[in-house]
Amino acid sequence: MDSSSLPVGAVSAIFFLLFMLNNVHGKLETNDCDLFQGNWVYDDSYPLYDSSVCPFIEKQFDCLKNGRPDKEYLKYRWQPNGCFLPRFNATEFQLKFKGKSLMFVGDSLSVDQWQSLTCMLHAADPQAEYTSKRVGATSFFSFPKYNTSYLVFRDVFLVDIIKEYNGTRVLELDSLSSAAQWKEMDVLVFDSWHWWLHTGRKQAWDLVQDGKSTYKDAPRLTLYKKALNTWAKWVDSEVDTTKTTVFFQGVSPDHGNCVGETKPTRSTQGPHPGELVLENVLRRMKKPVHLLNVTTLSQYRADGHPSVYGFGGHRNIDCTHWCVAGVADTWNVLLSALLDQL
Ligand SMILES: *[C@@H]1O[C@H](CO)[C@@H](O)[C@H](O)[C@H]1NC(C)=O
Ligand SMILES: *[C@@H]1O[C@H](CO)[C@@H](O)[C@H](O)[C@H]1NC(C)=O
Ligand SMILES: *[C@@H]1O[C@H](CO)[C@@H](O)[C@H](O)[C@H]1NC(C)=O
Ligand SMILES: *[C@@H]1O[C@H](CO)[C@@H](O)[C@H](O)[C@H]1NC(C)=O
Repeated sequence: MDSSSLPVGAVSAIFFLLFMLNNVHGKLETNDCDLFQGNWVYDDSYPLYDSSVCPFIEKQFDCLKNGRPDKEYLKYRWQPNGCFLPRFNATEFQLKFKGKSLMFVGDSLSVDQWQSLTCMLHAADPQAEYTSKRVGATSFFSFPKYNTSYLVFRDVFLVDIIKEYNGTRVLELDSLSSAAQWKEMDVLVFDSWHWWLHTGRKQAWDLVQDGKSTYKDAPRLTLYKKALNTWAKWVDSEVDTTKTTVFFQGVSPDHGNCVGETKPTRSTQGPHPGELVLENVLRRMKKPVHLLNVTTLSQYRADGHPSVYGFGGHRNIDCTHWCVAGVADTWNVLLSALLDQL
């Protein structure tokens, strides 16, 4: 009997069975395909949590509370081509992570991903006590019930900016003085990109210190590459990657204009120049560092930014960060899938 003579229900039952069989044996289906190539598909069961039950989202990410009227942007699930991305189960994630700590290190895109993760975990078990505090550049978030900690360390360039006695701000491309505070974690997820582009009043330095030479400025991709190389050298020499799993969040793309966007598109702006530099640096490293390759999948999501429903409303349109809930949840679903594969 060929499949064309089977009733539709039977055919889908067979596919369902094959799908279940494939999944029983866990990892194969995620290991032998690229999780980062795929499509956004509409999924009625999304979002993975209700952001209104998350009491600690910062205003800039809390699009619904800031009045965003459209909700379709919450309903998309990332579907890799030819493999199955396991549905995120927050309880399982917490149980597997028992006794461990994860730290995001980077700019506000790190904070975005951290907020998404902590909200997902809190929403799945709202009765579970949590503690949170901010000390200097670090925000701590932990669940005593699971003995898990999720931290974010704000350090936009990874390398240092120091202020001279005369007020001059110097970008020190060879120096990574915060690194000692990152080392003891079980999982590290780095990110840096956005601030490298700022010029004029938003530029964070007056001078660049690069080895023995000092200069005012250079092409930003060059500076970015030099800083990433300093970071890579530190990981290669200082991080015990048998104890600490290291990820780098791929460059999170901006969209020049995102106002009024409500659906994913299939168009990207092509390969992201910052992402190409990052991939190049990672490829030359000795230690294993995993790229959380979110650039392309996020390029499809101009609808995922806060737009006028972020921090600044119409005066400061945000096409850089991502609403929570939203696209950053998928970054965490992918992070969780990669952690399962290790
Ligand atoms: C990241 O994902 C994009 C899109 O799937 C792909 O073109 C690119 O090669 C990937 N980069 C790496 C280093 O795997
Ligand atoms: C999530 O995992 C827990 C623990 O394994 C299980 O009890 C629960 O049913 C799962 N939830 C869903 C929605 O699959
Ligand atoms: C929590 O995890 C840490 C690190 O693994 C461990 O040292 C500590 O004993 C754990 N605490 C509890 C209450 O299980
Ligand atoms: C401040 O000091 C640095 C060296 O420490 C020097 O290069 C820079 O020109 C000084 N800036 C001003 C405004 O004097």
